[in-house]
Amino acid sequence: MIRARLCSQNPHKLEELRAALPGWELELLEANGYPAEDGATYYENARAKALFGRAHVKPSPWTIGEDSGIEAAALGGRPGVRSARWADDGVARLLEEVAAADDRRVRYVCELVCLTPDRELRGTGILDGTLATAPSGSEGFGYDPIFVPAGETRTVAELGNAWKRRHSHRARAARALLAAAPS
Ligand code: IMP
Repeated sequence: MIRARLCSQNPHKLEELRAALPGWELELLEANGYPAEDGATYYENARAKALFGRAHVKPSPWTIGEDSGIEAAALGGRPGVRSARWADDGVARLLEEVAAADDRRVRYVCELVCLTPDRELRGTGILDGTLATAPSGSEGFGYDPIFVPAGETRTVAELGNAWKRRHSHRARAARALLAAAPS
């Protein structure tokens, strides 16, 4: 059993990652003073969170940092790594900015960095989709009510948490992390 601390304050992410990392005992790191997410990449932000966790957890189990975002093709990939701080109401702003564009392609990106006592493991996951014209559904969080995954007709918020646990960008990043982890 691998014991790891997820350096995040988002319980949705904990739930998704617990499902995607069977055999790992994951807990959220509750701490004040999380680092500002001002890195240039998801990787930098995820690594900063994992390093922050390592400094707070003693004796140190493994720590996992996570950073994610949504990228709109019509906006040249924005809001991307800035997704969490882009707007008070990111859903409304994204719908507004993409409204006039023909291209409604979006993708979710998730980067995971896991620090073990002697190495750094990394996993990236991407979920492609298109932007709905109006929010729909009640599960998930953030942009899920307007994100329709490729091959689906409903939003992630309508498809629900069980779907998300199997198919999300976070689940995909976790599978990549598992593949990189020592057995
Ligand atoms: P983070 O907590 O800094 O990684 O912020 C990521 C931001 O990207 C969130 O606040 C959401 O706006 C968006 N985001 C990332 N993953 C998801 C997801 O699974 N569903 C919906 N929005 C997401």
